[in-house]
Amino acid sequence: MAKILVTGGTGYIGSHTVVELFNAGYEVVVVDDFSNSDPKILEQIEKISGKKPEFFKIDLCDENAVNLFVDQNKDITGVIHFAAFKAVGESVQQPLKYYRNNFFSLINILTAFNSKIQLVFSSSCTVYGQPDQLPVNELAKVKKAESPYGNTKQIAEEILQEACAVTPDLNVIALRYFNPVGAHKSALIGELPIGVPQNLVPFITQSAIGKRGAITVFGNDYNTPDGSAIRDYIHVVDLAKAHVAAIKRLESKAGANFEIFNVGTGKGSSVLEIISAFEKSTGEKLNYTIGARREGDIEQTYGDVTLSNNVLGWKAELGLEDMLSSAWNWEKYLRENPF
Ligand code: WQD
Repeated sequence: MAKILVTGGTGYIGSHTVVELFNAGYEVVVVDDFSNSDPKILEQIEKISGKKPEFFKIDLCDENAVNLFVDQNKDITGVIHFAAFKAVGESVQQPLKYYRNNFFSLINILTAFNSKIQLVFSSSCTVYGQPDQLPVNELAKVKKAESPYGNTKQIAEEILQEACAVTPDLNVIALRYFNPVGAHKSALIGELPIGVPQNLVPFITQSAIGKRGAITVFGNDYNTPDGSAIRDYIHVVDLAKAHVAAIKRLESKAGANFEIFNVGTGKGSSVLEIISAFEKSTGEKLNYTIGARREGDIEQTYGDVTLSNNVLGWKAELGLEDMLSSAWNWEKYLRENPF
């Protein structure tokens, strides 16, 4: 039975991926330090899947702890590496915190496995910046990141590519996520932002439930149909399934030993479209105002997902209605069951 290590497996995307790995028949071991997640998520996974993953609380920046863990878990056949700090704004304020954590954790994992491992890396469409051409494909130029967070994703991809070039036993798939939103249909797991949500959909659900005031639409003077910025929003369950598809491709040894895939729907939606889609799918009325553009935001992006569909063998199935109603159901679950 193949056993997958999921680093950051109690986080938003990690927890949904653990559920999908269980659904696909894998054994799972999770390593997390709970720096951006809650231990209760492990019980929530058990409620959904009927079993808990093995769990070890480890700071992946602690090289000795990572080496000891890997030595004591030699039956691990693959790794999905989520563990990283990911708040764009915070990374601008605390760059060293981001470079230290995001690089030390990755490099400790690679060296602990002696670079003999199949690894799925959590990357981001942020590496494209504002694409010159839309939809943006994997061959598009990687642009100078707008934030240390984005830079850690770009440099991590380079580290992996260069390591794979000299280590045939290191096989990596980097998944460039677009905008993950939504929650598991059980409403038992979902996004758990710490403090004021920076991302659009958790702010919307917290505004709708009365935890926050009106939403500010960051700019309606973009060169887009309704003036608000466009993103490729993807359901977190679809995104989780893309990780299982990537593990299966690595197991098949079908591809080169370093591959990159966009993971999105291939469709763009504006902020104002998300707001109206939320109201339509939940029946809730949202209050919003139009404000200034947010520093560092791009105007529009959405992915060319041809490679993911035709080579990775994965395609997004869930639409905005599922994304937004599931996010709302999760917010209502949290109101009755605060973490
Ligand atoms: C989406 C749109 C905002 C909040 C970032 C990272 C990306 C990934 C997802 C980690 C933008 C607008 C937002 C609000 C708004 N993170 N907005 N009012 O910035 O596209 O992507 O998060 O993996 O790597 O870059 O996502 O949800 O913050 O913003 O108008 O209160 O919503 O301006 O146009 P973003 P987001």
